[in-house]
Amino acid sequence: MSFDFKVADLSLAEAGRHQIRLAEHEMPGLMSLREEYGSAQPLKGAKIAGSLHMTVQTAVLIETLVALGAEVRWASCNIYSTQDEAAAAVVVGPEGTVDDPQGVPVFAWKGETLPEYWDCTDAILTWPGGDGPNMILDDGGDATMLVHKGREWEAAGQVPPTTDEDSEEIGVFKELVRRTLAADPQKWTKVAEGIKGVTEETTTGVHRLYELAKTGDLLFPAINVNDSVTKSKFDNKYGCRHSVLDGLNRATDVLIGGKVAVVAGFGDVGKGCAAALAGQGARVIVTEIDPICALQAAMEGYQVARLEDVVDVADLFVTTTGNFNIITAEHMTQMKDKAIVSNIGHFDNEIDMAGLAKVPGVTKTEIKPQVHEWTFPEGHGRPPRSIIVLSEGRLMNLGNATGHPSFVMSNSFANQTIAQIELFTKNDEYDKQVYVLPKHLDEKVARLHLDALGAELTELTKEQAEYIGVDVAGPYKPDHYRY
Ligand code: NAI
Repeated sequence: MSFDFKVADLSLAEAGRHQIRLAEHEMPGLMSLREEYGSAQPLKGAKIAGSLHMTVQTAVLIETLVALGAEVRWASCNIYSTQDEAAAAVVVGPEGTVDDPQGVPVFAWKGETLPEYWDCTDAILTWPGGDGPNMILDDGGDATMLVHKGREWEAAGQVPPTTDEDSEEIGVFKELVRRTLAADPQKWTKVAEGIKGVTEETTTGVHRLYELAKTGDLLFPAINVNDSVTKSKFDNKYGCRHSVLDGLNRATDVLIGGKVAVVAGFGDVGKGCAAALAGQGARVIVTEIDPICALQAAMEGYQVARLEDVVDVADLFVTTTGNFNIITAEHMTQMKDKAIVSNIGHFDNEIDMAGLAKVPGVTKTEIKPQVHEWTFPEGHGRPPRSIIVLSEGRLMNLGNATGHPSFVMSNSFANQTIAQIELFTKNDEYDKQVYVLPKHLDEKVARLHLDALGAELTELTKEQAEYIGVDVAGPYKPDHYRY
């Protein structure tokens, strides 16, 4: 079998395969879906373009989709998040060898440039024989955006000119669309027409989908995987509770106990990060714009403050807002010497990296890949100082570490797999809107993970079920219940 792919080094495949094998043991949700659906092959005929961090856990997801009958092409949704050994193992496949890869076309490596990143995203949407995919599995919405913007600009007859206002990323993105349309002027209409739907992994991508649905511009149905309870209340919260420390430790290994840590945003990700830092003995300060989340943070015992009031006393910063310009260049110039600045939200614009590079006299030293010291010159009566920025402002748990552990990702990816089956097999039941999975499927995902933890679930009696107005088999909560 020969197919196109682009990864760092195929010889890493064996190391990747060992890690995948161990991850499978920690991903009971995905493994039991393989058992349940393996013979029925519900994804037979599905051609899935996946844009999601190419980690060991994602490898188990990809091989689950294949086990259920799908054909798959994969790219990462971040330039730093690929684990090269996982990418290599997926290309080689469980049955293949380095000389005779039998797996899945992957286009991802750690440390892509922006043009390479967008080329990889284009590659998963461009199938052999000039075809496109019929499903997208997205994380952050970049693959979905490429199809939508490509088609919009194709219909308008031109890609808007690149201006000084555009970030480097937007400039690169426009250039890619220009290039693809020059090669095939109807490319994005054809790709869009072939797609039955998208399943979206994260808060930021979901936000983009609801915007498209609101203006009537969504081209195909979407399932919001993020807002399955077994996704956002587990991956975003407990996943980040684990991987924020992993990122900080691998990047800097500073002792967190006793330090002052600012967590910007107290949503699901912020709650996990604040708990982790407090667990290490840091004094945590939370910034929030939402009074409900601010009150929750206060009730947990955290100080709630404005960033400008604490920027010069904190030792480390983690942004978790999904919003932009949270830490400005001005903030960074006021920080303590060797303050650590990091972002765990989806995009790198939470920290104004472009503004930081423009501070007069600032210099940048690479301590190691994805760890940089930015030194400000003397001034305003202050000695020269430096701050440490992780992953160039991109999500530090995947840039500086390896993302969330397998067990929590098994919950997220079981939702992804079920959502792909749902949209692919019952496509005519869905309009061009954004849907969440029904609660009984959410409960199913949780159920698949209880045994592995030795958790014994109490069963309702028939009388108890009647008394609280639910079925003995669930769902156990109304849709408006918030957990
Ligand atoms: P969320 O919506 O639950 O929380 C974000 C919080 O930030 C909200 O409470 C909001 O009020 C607050 N916020 C917004 N603007 C703010 C500002 N200017 N200052 C202070 N607070 C502000 O979203 P969630 O699920 O916590 O996700 C946050 C980001 O993390 C998203 O970009 C999401 O895609 C990403 N994410 C990253 C993961 C990772 O592994 N790195 C995992 C899951 C999500």
